[in-house]
Formats: sequence, C-alpha cells, structure tokens
Amino acid sequence: MSSSPADTTAERSVLITGGNRGIGRCIAEEFLRRGDKVAVTSRSGSGGPEGALTVAADVTDAASLDQAIATAQEAHGPIEVLVANAGITDDQLLLRMNDASFESVIDTNLTGAFRTVSRVIRSMMRAKRGRIVLISSVVGQYGSPGQVNYAASKAGLVGMARSITRELGSRGITANVVAPGYIDTDMTASLSDDLKAKYRDAIPAGRFADPAEVAKVVAFLASEDAAYISGAVIPVDGGLGMGH
Ligand SMILES: NC(=O)c1ccc[n+]([C@@H]2O[C@H](COP(=O)([O-])OP(=O)(O)OC[C@H]3O[C@@H](n4cnc5c(N)ncnc54)[C@H](OP(=O)(O)O)[C@@H]3O)[C@@H](O)[C@H]2O)c1
Repeated sequence: MSSSPADTTAERSVLITGGNRGIGRCIAEEFLRRGDKVAVTSRSGSGGPEGALTVAADVTDAASLDQAIATAQEAHGPIEVLVANAGITDDQLLLRMNDASFESVIDTNLTGAFRTVSRVIRSMMRAKRGRIVLISSVVGQYGSPGQVNYAASKAGLVGMARSITRELGSRGITANVVAPGYIDTDMTASLSDDLKAKYRDAIPAGRFADPAEVAKVVAFLASEDAAYISGAVIPVDGGLGMGH
C-alpha cells in the first residue's frame, strides 16, 4: 500500500497521550476503527484499548517520553498523527491557589504538550506530513472561576498550535486545537450534582457530551479531508463557549 500524502487509506502511526481512559481512550478507539496503528501513553504503562500499543509515559518526565516515543516508533514507524490529550485539573479559587498548583497544571497540560510535540516534529518535517491535535478546553477562552491554572494552560495551547502552523504550515503539517466543553469522564465525575446541574443549564445543547463526540472531531482534523485546516480552535461544547 502506498503512503503518499494523497493516500487516505494508508494506516498511519498515531500517538495519543493519556489514551488509557476518558477522552484519550475514545480517540484511540476511533483511530483504531479507521484502521490506523495506534500507540497510547498512560502513566502505568497499561490500560489502553485492545489493538493499541500502550507505553508508559509521564508527560512531565522528558526521559519517560523519549522512551515511550522510541518504543511506539519502533513498533509503528515515525509518528504521523499526534494527539496531545493528557491533562489534569487542580481547581482552587485564586486567593487559595499556590505556586505549586499553578506550576503543576501548566507543567502537565502545556509544557507536557510541548515536550511531546517537540519530540515528534522532526520526523513529521522529514516526512513533509503530520497532524497535531492539541486537546484544550472551552475554559481556555471562556474562563472559569477556580481554574486560573487550568484555563491558562489550555489557552496556551492555542498559541502553540498557531505558532506551529506559522512555522511549519508549508511543510504539510497541520496543528489544531479541539476545545471540548463538559464531557462525561473521570475528570467531571467528581463534580457535585448541584454544580453539574448549573453547568447543564448553561449549555445550549442541554447536556454533557459523550467522549466519542470529541473523538470523531479529532479524527476528522487528522484526516486528509482536513488538510487545509490549521491553527483552528474547534469547539465541541454544545454551544457553551460561542463567541469566545
Ligand atoms: N472531561 C471534560 O469535560 C473535559 C473538558 C475539556 C477538556 N478536557 C481535556 O481533555 C483531556 C482528557 O480529559 P479526560 O476528561 O479524559 O480526563 P481523565 O479521564 O481524567 O483522563 C486524563 C488522562 O490524562 C492522563 N494524564 C494526566 N496526567 C498525566 C501526566 N502527567 N502524564 C501523562 N498522562 C497524564 C491520565 O493518565 P493516567 O491514567 O495515567 O492518570 C489520563 O489518561 C484533558 O486534557 C482535559 O483537560 C476534558
């Protein structure tokens, strides 16, 4: 099977950080369904979906990422599609948020994405093709009380994708941001029922989303059909963030 840039059927080497649960796992399942070779990271080194290669990596630990990417590339070839999905929250009102909380959320969500992108970009440039999708959040542009650290990290991903686009847009590489709203995963499971009801009332769609609804958008942005979309922020938020 040829792997020319115009070939939409060739299976690609896909890497998803945080692919053992939640949105990342669903994204991995979507790429597997489309016939790609999928590697996922998890901190434990297990837990990815059947059919994916699960490798251990903590995105705050450069050496573990080096090892994970080397293992994925040995198995599947140079990474052609990267989904930087690993992320955490550590919510506190600003008055109570300390430096450690701010720094750890930035280190995982923003610097972690940089560490991953910077380790796969060279081979994408060599191949003159690549798809980078950064998983941000509606909160990155909308803002959210108690999430100064998280919102700053997710807003930073927009600048990252747009700078990558300006640097490498002429090399067959796209970099886009997906900004989910409230998605049913472990991350939102701990919210109180009262808070969930308040959020639901604010969402024009009147419901939370299933992670599969995010996964399909990510897969589209990674497809040949999306070759001319780069530096975009695609909301998957039921209308919550409109205009932001
Ligand atoms: N759920 C939502 O409503 C929502 C909304 C907007 C944006 N998002 C974003 O979507 C992404 C996935 O969220 P989710 O809801 O699926 O969260 P989740 O269920 O809590 O899963 C988080 C994933 O990130 C991984 N991760 C966390 N810290 C890591 C680290 N230091 N190194 C490597 N992996 C790490 C976790 O791996 P382990 O299992 O090893 O901990 C896990 O796979 C995040 O970036 C999140 O900010 C979520």
